[in-house]
Amino acid sequence: MIGSDEVTVEVSGLVKEFPAPGGGTLRAVDGVSFEVHRGEVFGFLGPNGAGKTTTLEIIEGLQEPTSGTASVLGLDSVHDRERMKARIGVQLQAGAYFRYLTLEEILDLFGSFYPKALPPAELLEKVGLLDKRRALVGELSGGQAQRFSIVAAMVNDPEVVFLDEPTTGLDPQARRNLWDLVEFINRQEGKTVVMTTHYMEEAQVLCDRVAIIDHGRIQALDTPLGLVRRLPSAYRIVFQASGGVDEAALARLPGVRRVTPVQLNGFNWELAVRRAAETLPAFVEWSESNGVKVEDVQVIPATLEDVFLTLTGHTLRE
Ligand SMILES: Nc1ncnc2c1ncn2[C@@H]1O[C@H](COP(=O)(O)OP(=O)(O)O)[C@@H](O)[C@H]1O
Ligand SMILES: [Mg+2]
Repeated sequence: MIGSDEVTVEVSGLVKEFPAPGGGTLRAVDGVSFEVHRGEVFGFLGPNGAGKTTTLEIIEGLQEPTSGTASVLGLDSVHDRERMKARIGVQLQAGAYFRYLTLEEILDLFGSFYPKALPPAELLEKVGLLDKRRALVGELSGGQAQRFSIVAAMVNDPEVVFLDEPTTGLDPQARRNLWDLVEFINRQEGKTVVMTTHYMEEAQVLCDRVAIIDHGRIQALDTPLGLVRRLPSAYRIVFQASGGVDEAALARLPGVRRVTPVQLNGFNWELAVRRAAETLPAFVEWSESNGVKVEDVQVIPATLEDVFLTLTGHTLRE
């Protein structure tokens, strides 16, 4: 679902300091402000220690900020916490659930904390776990346990769901299943989703807008495409040409930033360009008028990993 204009989460000037291990203070969150609109999937993308969980927990009312404010559905995360809690869903770590209760019993128990709750069987059906209703959490696979933790955050039929690194530790197949589930609760169930991840691909696939966070600060915030388009070279055109190529002539084509000979899956030239659509027509024209035989050509868009590297000078994994 694409977000509306209605503001669902509002964060302003958020700061969170902790005592640093060697004395002094550590600013885990350093002046974060943003808005999430109703119906969006909003993502926080950043490496370990960037301040994602701390920010999320302040919004959820689980931690208090050092300064700044957060609110959800117009309810302040500190002062209106109790009223807010009834209308949000918070995914807990799989290990946080009772080990001796069945899935159905856990959902029943969680539901009893709220004025209105959905029936456990209906919830389990949504995530394909109905046949596991009498299983213990410890008996589930990693992917099943993550699906359960998401549905457990939905017992109160919340308007906003918070997911903290929902696919960390899952294999690629289980990760894809979970992406489908997040899309389902957003598109079919109409829930606003606020999530964190350190997987570039996850943010790119799932999120309508992404805040790139590093060292407690938002470095950039936009749609995945909008972020990529800010790069000086948002695309690479790779091609295979037999015979000689005039590098200087290629470098003069519109939008070309760099021309590099490469050895890449059979391609032998790479153009770093601002926009593929700006360069491609001139490129075709150039090859025809110069009698250059182009055997194959591919356009490779930049990724959020490239954006992150450009903004912070390091990769997401460092
Ligand atoms: N309760 C705490 N006490 C002290 N330092 C903390 C605490 N919680 C988080 N931190 C520190 O704050 C920074 C941000 O942590 P966190 O929000 O968990 O990041 P992320 O979720 O992006 O990995 C890290 O340096 C972390 O060690
Ligand atoms: Mg975290």
